[in-house]
Amino acid sequence: MEKIIRKSAPLKGELFVAPDKSISHRAVIFSSLAKGEGIVRNFLQANDTLSTCDCMRQLGISIEEKDSILIICGKGLGGLKEPKTILDCGNSGTTIRLLSGLLASQPFFSVLSGDESLNARPMKRVIHPLSTMGADILARDDNSYPPLAIRGKLLKGIDYRLPVASAQLKSALILAALNAQDETILHEKEKSRDHTERMLAAMGADIESSELTIRIRPGIELMPQEFMVPGDISSAAFFLVAAAIVPGSELLIKNVGINPSRAGIIEVLKAMGAKIKVVNQRFFAGEEVADILVSSSELKAVELDGEIIPRLIDELPVLAVAMAVADGESSVRGAGELRVKETDRIAAVSSELARMGVQIKELDDGFIVQGNPDLLRGNPVNSHGDHRIAMSLAIAALRAEGETRIGGAEAVSISFPGFWSTLAQITETAP
Ligand code: S3P
Repeated sequence: MEKIIRKSAPLKGELFVAPDKSISHRAVIFSSLAKGEGIVRNFLQANDTLSTCDCMRQLGISIEEKDSILIICGKGLGGLKEPKTILDCGNSGTTIRLLSGLLASQPFFSVLSGDESLNARPMKRVIHPLSTMGADILARDDNSYPPLAIRGKLLKGIDYRLPVASAQLKSALILAALNAQDETILHEKEKSRDHTERMLAAMGADIESSELTIRIRPGIELMPQEFMVPGDISSAAFFLVAAAIVPGSELLIKNVGINPSRAGIIEVLKAMGAKIKVVNQRFFAGEEVADILVSSSELKAVELDGEIIPRLIDELPVLAVAMAVADGESSVRGAGELRVKETDRIAAVSSELARMGVQIKELDDGFIVQGNPDLLRGNPVNSHGDHRIAMSLAIAALRAEGETRIGGAEAVSISFPGFWSTLAQITETAP
């Protein structure tokens, strides 16, 4: 599907973004492991999270949907059953990585696979520590890529230093640890999103976390919860940047999760000179939530590296758009993980923004952007089948001269199926 986006007049109004993808996946998986009926309100109905629901159903879990609320009949930590066929994780890295950790300790055989993009994503980072715990996992290309064949076993605890800042890896190991014979201690390199730790603690798991260390003791049954999923800051990011870069704009984005391990984008946009106010801050089911008011301003360049990177890893493609209109040279380093996302996001963002006139240079672990709003022009571009690339290009198009044709626009349905209609609701073609 192709979408045509034209230079926009000022963006005005109030909007809600898609519910949080990371929390939605976890709410379904963790509720399936609790004993009793769990409820998930404001669940994200998008391709990735529906892949998780399909997999959990095949593992014997009943998931009902009533008025956009999920009701999940949890069967306890040992209550899953052997799936009769391959578990299809679609495009979802979170599904395949979290389930590999979970299934490694279940007393049955299972196979996890996905689409072409998912089956090219690295799994050694998960398979290696799980194997050290005693797991029996085989994968394609010297145990590197999906499909994964798992023969579940009783696992032992591990004391492990994670070589990459990855919440998917951390969560896979935490899930394995819940069912292991003894204690597990994980040490993170840099802090990655901590929804797993927060949600499992709320469910009664014996899990303690300090800044970079997590300790899990196994054997405690989880209590079902009523989860309320906030809006996804990674989806709000597109509108934060849109309002910041389209002159005269003012948007109020309501009900957004601002967990500090996810909110790096707010800090960075503020450092670039964006006008952002976080209002109506509240706590909901262990997660900070707020409304975010953002209006346009002149942006200045920024250099990103180090501990901030995992706290805005999914927002870097759209931050490249903000950098393209900022005054001066911006850079992103230490973000080599972008090369192993749904597509190689360093290559994709560099080639597609270059087609729109942006001066952007690829680095091994990031990119350098020479900001100049006058260079941005509409052109045919492509999402590379990646939801966040499609949405980032749409935001660049709002500020580009002429019209931008975005190929592969259907990719947004992975995380934000309502993106195109939400965008239409707040934009107007510039006169
Ligand atoms: C996610 C973790 C991040 C992120 C992904 C969702 C999660 O991936 O990019 O979109 O829900 O745990 P990594 O763990 O690979 O950094």
